[in-house]
Amino acid sequence: MRIVLLGGAGYIGTVAAHHLTRLGHHVTAVDGLIYHRGDDPTRLLPHDTEFVHADLRDPAALRRAATGADAVVHLGGLVGEPACATDPQLAVELNYASPVLAAEAARDAGVPHYVLFSSCSVYGSHEGTVTEDTGPNPLGVYARTKVLAERRLTDLLQDTAALTVLRLATVHGRSPRQRLDSVVNRMTAQAVTTGRIPLNGGSQRRPLVHVQDVAEVLEAVLADPKTLRILNVGADTENYTIAQIAETVAAAVPGARIDRGPERDEADARDYRTSFARLHNLLPDACTRTLAAGVAEIADTVTGGTLGDVNAPAYDNYQGLLAALETGRLEAAATDDCLRLHAEYTNTDWSTK
Ligand SMILES: NC(=O)c1ccc[n+]([C@@H]2O[C@H](COP(=O)([O-])OP(=O)(O)OC[C@H]3O[C@@H](n4cnc5c(N)ncnc54)[C@H](O)[C@@H]3O)[C@@H](O)[C@H]2O)c1
Repeated sequence: MRIVLLGGAGYIGTVAAHHLTRLGHHVTAVDGLIYHRGDDPTRLLPHDTEFVHADLRDPAALRRAATGADAVVHLGGLVGEPACATDPQLAVELNYASPVLAAEAARDAGVPHYVLFSSCSVYGSHEGTVTEDTGPNPLGVYARTKVLAERRLTDLLQDTAALTVLRLATVHGRSPRQRLDSVVNRMTAQAVTTGRIPLNGGSQRRPLVHVQDVAEVLEAVLADPKTLRILNVGADTENYTIAQIAETVAAAVPGARIDRGPERDEADARDYRTSFARLHNLLPDACTRTLAAGVAEIADTVTGGTLGDVNAPAYDNYQGLLAALETGRLEAAATDDCLRLHAEYTNTDWSTK
């Protein structure tokens, strides 16, 4: 199969590229390396993966990438609310305009299957357990761009291509393009290097998933496209509170202790328990790697010293984004396409969603 990974040089993209290439697929990774960490894509990606350096808001580049592909997978964008709140216009361009432009290119090129990487963040805050049928409750720009992209792509690809939406739990584990800025990886790296695990808030619930499990789910859905499929990606047993994550890290890292801050983290109000029943009915063996396994893996990696300074901006997308914005390397493109799609975002009435 010829598979195009948009954002293929990222944390999840590089793991997916290795996994799919190992299985014999032809993989093209398209990425603008927006954090400019000095990443050498030939080092991050398998040698037989084709790498294309391009901006995922460029319709011509998207058309070239889509031509002849059996599947286009969009996993580019700005991840998380803090990054998106830093420059909402850029966030809308990268997380909403880009997936729409890529879907238009895929449709016009006759690509039969499109996979959108979305997030369980679309559920925001919910009392009970959320399923794919629960109405979204997006709390910020990141979640809103994901909700809107899901909806727009459903309309756009109707009758022309299969659409799979993967709503990922928070991802942890090792990747060639390591991120240490999401909750599990960050707490583990801090525990190993400082002996302390800062904990702001603790009662919010968060589903987790290992990055290799995500790559394996992607493999499975690529092999079996359906007209429209929305899947939460994770496991029912991998729903934790933030405090439980900290306790798991503390138990795994000798001498590490939890530093408790304010009970609630006002910056991140996400709080929900997620059902992964739909995924597990489809793929009973999916997402079996545990939080403890991911923690052990990151602790080993940090202890092994191959990452160097774990506080380097290279491992933190938010720091990388600030640096890119400050130096003008990354900015809103404000092309006609981006402005058209930005207007769709701003004209959406979220009060009735
Ligand atoms: N990591 C998580 O915990 C998590 C959780 C839920 C959903 N997701 C989703 O999974 C996807 C991948 O996440 P990740 O953790 O691998 O992120 P990442 O930041 O490591 O990778 C994203 C990649 O996209 C590229 N990119 C972004 N905008 C671009 C543009 N305009 N042009 C060219 N390249 C561009 C970046 O250079 C980067 O390599 C995202 O859609 C994210 O929202 C991730």
